[in-house]
Amino acid sequence: MRIGVLTGGGDCPGLNAAIRAIVRRATADDVTVFGIRNGFRGLVENDIEELTRASVIGILPRGGTILGTSRFNPLKDEASLQALKENFASHRLDALVVVGGEGSLSAARDLWRHHEIRLVGIPKTIDNDINGTDFTFGFDTAVTIVTDAVDRLHTTAESHHRVMVVEVMGRHTGWIAAYGGIAGGADVILVPEHPFRISRVCDLLLSRQRLGRTFSIVVVAEDAHPHADEVFLTKEQYETIYRHDRLGGVGEALAAEIERCTNIQTRITKLGYVQRGGSPTPFDRILATRFGIKAYEMIRAGEFGRMAALRGNRIVSASLDEAVGELKRLDDEIYRLAEVFFG
Ligand code: F6P
Repeated sequence: MRIGVLTGGGDCPGLNAAIRAIVRRATADDVTVFGIRNGFRGLVENDIEELTRASVIGILPRGGTILGTSRFNPLKDEASLQALKENFASHRLDALVVVGGEGSLSAARDLWRHHEIRLVGIPKTIDNDINGTDFTFGFDTAVTIVTDAVDRLHTTAESHHRVMVVEVMGRHTGWIAAYGGIAGGADVILVPEHPFRISRVCDLLLSRQRLGRTFSIVVVAEDAHPHADEVFLTKEQYETIYRHDRLGGVGEALAAEIERCTNIQTRITKLGYVQRGGSPTPFDRILATRFGIKAYEMIRAGEFGRMAALRGNRIVSASLDEAVGELKRLDDEIYRLAEVFFG
């Protein structure tokens, strides 16, 4: 048997752990594994090489992906799709493992459903926005990094009596902001699922000040929007911050507005790609390893068009249709819990 593995979309901690698990498990059965470079691009451009047990030595704790990644969509034109099919056939691949986020898993779903490419998925992303699985790997590491940053920012906030605004990633969902903010003890957390009123944010910060808390931490997700009733951003700011292909900058505008309306010195820290970097946490290493093993077992069982998923503490297979139909929004229960600690 011969299987291919690719990692697509944004990198995240745990990708190497998943690759290692697939290679270790498959080679133990004398199955040959091919690593495809740079996501689907490698399958279209025939950038493929065999992965042996030696190829995966020492990669478990390493961030990023030894295979490289890209956001290349193989379904974007007929020529790419044809090349992908030819390379799949010329390597005599029996199946493919696609380790990806929403974009790569959507492409995987379509390749299986419309072109009968035999594949299984593994959900990864720091954003934790994939349906069908309780968690994706990468998320726990990102939350750990945000928590550590918020802990560190507390000391300067407290010493200088400042408001610290921390902008975090998460694309269109507030999972990282909510989990990182709750774990770090943020005083306000703003997420895309709940448009915020700037007047309420300022009231919360001023009431903290009146209670003698002369500093505050505000965690804001990169796609958090002001409520339509109280838009304080200019049209130009809106267009720069909420770009379809790249989000970022709401923290800076928010910090300026908070300083204006509260008169409290306010600073902004944008955590950016730090959240995607470095070594995965033990939770992510274990989840990625379990997903890798499950993906291999699914191939052996012929369960194509599905992905490995976490439900409770069990690893199961979930349909790719369910996974990519719509984004998994922040659980309302989590946001209600975060709100208890606002102000
Ligand atoms: O999906 C992961 C993520 O880091 C998002 O949180 C962020 O919005 C996006 O990727 C950034 O993408 P890029 O790496 O293309 O700049």
